Amino acid sequence: MKREDVLIPEAALASQREFEDKVRAMFAAREAHPLACVDTFGCQQNVADGQKLMGMLERMGFAFTGEPGEADLVILNTCAVREHAEQRVFGNLGILTHTKKENPAQIIALCGCMAQEPRVSQRVRASYRHVDLVFGPHALWKFPELLCRVYETGKRVFSVDEEHGSIAEGIPVVREGGVKAWVSVMYGCNNFCSYCIVPYVRGRERSRDPRCVLEEVRELVEAGYRDITLLGQNVNSYGNDLEIAYDFADLLAEIDQIPGEYLIRFMSSHPKDATKKLFDTMARCGHVAKQLHLPFQSGNDRVLREMNRRYTRAQYLELVNYARQVMPGLVVTSDVIIGFPGETEAEAMDTVSLVEEVGFDALFTFIYSPRPGTKAAELPDPAPRAEKQKWFDRLLEVQNARSAALHAGYVGQVLRVLVDGKSGDGDFPLSSRTEGNRLVRLTGDEKLIGQFINVRITGSNTWALYGEPA
Ligand code: SAM
Ligand code: SF4
Ligand code: F3S
Repeated sequence: MKREDVLIPEAALASQREFEDKVRAMFAAREAHPLACVDTFGCQQNVADGQKLMGMLERMGFAFTGEPGEADLVILNTCAVREHAEQRVFGNLGILTHTKKENPAQIIALCGCMAQEPRVSQRVRASYRHVDLVFGPHALWKFPELLCRVYETGKRVFSVDEEHGSIAEGIPVVREGGVKAWVSVMYGCNNFCSYCIVPYVRGRERSRDPRCVLEEVRELVEAGYRDITLLGQNVNSYGNDLEIAYDFADLLAEIDQIPGEYLIRFMSSHPKDATKKLFDTMARCGHVAKQLHLPFQSGNDRVLREMNRRYTRAQYLELVNYARQVMPGLVVTSDVIIGFPGETEAEAMDTVSLVEEVGFDALFTFIYSPRPGTKAAELPDPAPRAEKQKWFDRLLEVQNARSAALHAGYVGQVLRVLVDGKSGDGDFPLSSRTEGNRLVRLTGDEKLIGQFINVRITGSNTWALYGEPA
């Protein structure tokens, strides 16, 4: 694809702002704002998309509610990565038949990754007739036009064509909280890991222009955001599709020049193309958090090959060693899948032994879930679920023991944290994060939210540290 075919032209974007005005005018006679309930599932990329939906809705005059029963518009912004996530969405869609019965004018929309799967949109078309609007991630930028069409025609609208994917700049965003922000630096994925649905629903890799990313981060820092996470399915591919020689490490180094008190994080980083240059740049840049999310998925070379991950266990270990060498104290986290089709117990135990060998600070652990349309879903999968669960429990046992011991080691220390919000815990009402993104629950006043402070760690468990302002 040529760059000019990827970028949505300004005129097309401007026409969406006109559709926003049109929808706003439809509700102008009402005394109160119309209410939208936006329910987002899945990864941070989807959270960022949900914030854009809310930005466009705000322009259309909507206010927000968490209660689908009182909403004029309900949007389910969905995730397709595992079967369980999809089942939850179908469950929620079922519940919405009742809210629609109570309020027949209510509009129900399904968007996000599930909406982009032909299997799902066909099922919704045939069996979930109370759903008025279905659109995939490719159509997100034209949501105002699609919603306007639903209101004007009173008919169901589906916008789910398979596409390469595009880049739309300048969509308004509603962010939560004022301390943490998500910034997509690229969209899509070209890696086709054999188990994964993401490349099928999010299209090919597209990098945003570095100037747009820099401007957005600068605005966020100036607005007081303190913890900014750069997002991409694999940030190490950033720049491959740009017409200049420029990579993710170059982007990090330029962002680091923005003055202010803030931290930059990023995710995810695929081990196959994580470079020494990236780690050297992280080490050198004061604003870049010394935290690395480097998903390994499996500790066995045969399984890694079947997963189409394109690195070996030895190469993974070498990368982590190098990163730790140039960044002593680096916090390393990862994603891992147990029970890939054909995986044996011995192979799963290779994964457990890799976890022991690396000593991760935290792990996101998943049992393999077949995704129709992916290569792995066609493979024989003889191991029973109960057997996979046993391997999975073993993995959790090892990681939980490690996390608990690691956390206990912090008790008595003084750490610098960013207070990022309320915790919901009566005794430790504030939530904060260390530079390595470790959760610390705190005593103290809400006025501390948004500040970097020193805290004394007074307690810990497997999942969090507890402390008081020092
Ligand atoms: N692009 C990121 C990367 O490669 O690190 C990950 C994106 S994916 C949304 C997040 C995690 O979900 C993956 O790292 C993988 O561990 C897990 N995952 C993806 N597909 C899965 C499947 N079919 N079954 C179980 N877990 C899966
Ligand atoms: Fe999925 Fe692999 Fe792409 Fe990550 S890199 S989104 S796991 S295909
Ligand atoms: Fe994210 Fe789920 Fe889509 S993990 S990219 S929302 S399939």
